[in-house]
Amino acid sequence: MSLSTSITLASFYISCHAFPSALSQRSTTPTLASAEVIGTVSDPTWNRDSCTSIGVFGRELWTCRDSQSSSAFLSSSASWTDFNSSALPAIDSDGVLNMYGDNSDSVAYFPVQADECGPSPAGGCADGTRYAIWQNSRPMIAGSGSSSSAALYSWITRSHIASDLSNLDPTPATSLYRSDYAMGLASSQLPPVTLDSIPYGTYGWVQDSGHSYLYAQMSNNAIALARVPTAAVEDVSQYRYYTSTGWTNTPPIDGASEAVVPNAGTGGQGTFYYSQYFGAYVWIGIGAIGCNANFYVTTAPAPEGPWSTPALFYAGENGSNECGAYSQQAHPELTNNDGQGNYIYVTYTKVDGANVGYRTPLIKITWA
Ligand SMILES: *[C@@H]1O[C@H](CO)[C@@H](O)[C@H](O)[C@H]1NC(C)=O
Ligand SMILES: *[C@@H]1O[C@H](CO)[C@@H](O)[C@H](O)[C@H]1NC(C)=O
Repeated sequence: MSLSTSITLASFYISCHAFPSALSQRSTTPTLASAEVIGTVSDPTWNRDSCTSIGVFGRELWTCRDSQSSSAFLSSSASWTDFNSSALPAIDSDGVLNMYGDNSDSVAYFPVQADECGPSPAGGCADGTRYAIWQNSRPMIAGSGSSSSAALYSWITRSHIASDLSNLDPTPATSLYRSDYAMGLASSQLPPVTLDSIPYGTYGWVQDSGHSYLYAQMSNNAIALARVPTAAVEDVSQYRYYTSTGWTNTPPIDGASEAVVPNAGTGGQGTFYYSQYFGAYVWIGIGAIGCNANFYVTTAPAPEGPWSTPALFYAGENGSNECGAYSQQAHPELTNNDGQGNYIYVTYTKVDGANVGYRTPLIKITWA
């Protein structure tokens, strides 16, 4: 089975910075100063749904869900965007932040496995159901210590859905995909590693100097949290699990109330990151699972909280489709200071009718 997708790299730089301990900080509620739609993130070849992004080697790597070209339909694809000489997104005179990169026509970027109705690159099954191998949050970068290579991890639930999008398996397992990037080499993915039944990492992540904190959405939609040394993401024995009485070695039962991290997001899609501007961890995302262009924010002094009550800070333009707006994300590395200053870029998927396809408005949010 071939699992490679070639996306070539041109320059080297890993976006990273030390995250200060913020335990003495209190939760704050960010306030909007201004919001401006500054462009559209767009790929000339692919019509792409629900994109996330992460900074890699001086460019931005975007991963998106369902991606259609004139000859292919994939459950995921990936692309690059460039920065300009001000280290800001290189938006052209037509207002387009151009995505590029070589996607296979026959293999999804997060390859659909044989027991997920692969080789269909969209996970389509003969009985009309589908394995929707769709990421909810951006890949996590784990620096190799080298200035020219890095591993990127993506946790994705093996969702088996009916044609009406209802879930056929209420507690799907999670696959861990790893993409290895090296200067001058094509990217590749390893076969998925199946983790615990609570899908840690699928809901987002933050990192401090040595640890990765991995958020999960349990089947009752509440958020749970695990942590692991960043160098040991693939070693399940090194995971520790947050409970209201402390970190434990034993994964909590799905839905356990002591595992819940209250207000760590709304339950809908979004992005976690650390902000020096607020001296806090931040989550930005959609108000709730569903269709709208509303953006909510919550902050916390530590990954495990306490998180402030998610607050609405921006309402984007709805698309005209019945479900015209969804998949809100924030893009810290798209800023010229990794999201540490007074502004952040956000996107969502906007759908205005079948002929137009998916749009990805790029919005600059400036905080008061
Ligand atoms: C870089 O792009 C930003 C928009 O992302 C634009 O405001 C700025 O003027 C550009 N800078 C240069 C030097 O082209
Ligand atoms: C967009 O649609 C949602 C869901 O119907 C609604 O709650 C929201 O107010 C709408 N936003 C705007 C800006 O009209």
